[in-house]
Amino acid sequence: MSFDLSVQLAPENKRGLLLANPVMTASGTFGYGTEYRDVFDIQKLGAIVCKGTTLYPREGNPQPRLVETASGVLNSIGLQNIGVEAVIREKASIWTGWQVPVIVSIAGETVDEYTQVAGKLDGVAGISGIEVNISCPNVRAGGAAFGANSELAAGVTAAVRAATSLPELVKLTPSTGDIVEVAKAVVEAGADAISLINSVRGMAIDITGRRPTLGNVTGGLSGPAIKPLALALVYEVAGAVKVPVVGCGGITSASDAIEFIMAGASAVQVGSATFTNPRAPLDVLEGIEQFMEKEGISKLSEIIGAARR
Ligand SMILES: Cc1cc2nc3c(=O)[nH]c(=O)nc-3n(C[C@H](O)[C@H](O)[C@H](O)COP(=O)(O)O)c2cc1C
Repeated sequence: MSFDLSVQLAPENKRGLLLANPVMTASGTFGYGTEYRDVFDIQKLGAIVCKGTTLYPREGNPQPRLVETASGVLNSIGLQNIGVEAVIREKASIWTGWQVPVIVSIAGETVDEYTQVAGKLDGVAGISGIEVNISCPNVRAGGAAFGANSELAAGVTAAVRAATSLPELVKLTPSTGDIVEVAKAVVEAGADAISLINSVRGMAIDITGRRPTLGNVTGGLSGPAIKPLALALVYEVAGAVKVPVVGCGGITSASDAIEFIMAGASAVQVGSATFTNPRAPLDVLEGIEQFMEKEGISKLSEIIGAARR
């Protein structure tokens, strides 16, 4: 049986963002894609979202920056990255030869920083889209502060929209009063698609040392622990906006991914699962194909939002 798993993530954008299938990697959990080239055939994926990229290189937060929790992981990496110039110089030239689209995740402490990064990426061969991270819980300035407020979120979205013609995904934080309001505001401001969710602010305490376990005190919780929370938010947002929604949060298996798709997500991102199973994104894709075969589904579009009807 042949399946049509393709998804258009930016139907209103001149360039478009056509994915061969709905399985993407989540920013910060798959490096620049190059790190996984020898683990499995990454060209089979729908898209790769690279590490968060800022205007200048960042060293990130003090160690320790990763703690395991019940059914999840807390991280406080703090957007450690090589900076946009090095991404363009060292990574984009590699991506140019790939058939899998690469989406660059961008972040900043000010609107101007987001705009400059987006402007530099515009027209660079090998880059198919950008994902605007207004949801990082691990940085002092910017990050989730932008995503928590619909006016600020719309401001960043519009400024990035004006700086590039690349398809623009905007990634939302669950740490806001009304995520639907934020989602509608960023769509109004020009987002082609919405990704959700980023990790959820949390902490752990080292009781022998009598201090917070993470060097940054708090971090972002991800993994299976946040899946039901993410799923409910995807369900809500997908019912409120017309643009494609990309679901993320605790996806470790094909059935997790199908839940997000049935909630209304057009595509999904696999994040922390890759730490325990580096092939997780490919396993999720193959599992979706098996499910479709078993259920006699020939087109992915038949099940997008199926649980909403
Ligand atoms: C170690 C680590 C680093 C991350 N770095 C980023 C990042 O740079 N930008 C971003 O938007 N999200 C980042 N995230 C969040 C993930 O992309 C994803 O939204 C979140 O982990 C929830 O998905 P998951 O439960 O499948 O991991 C990071 C997550 C982890 C665990």
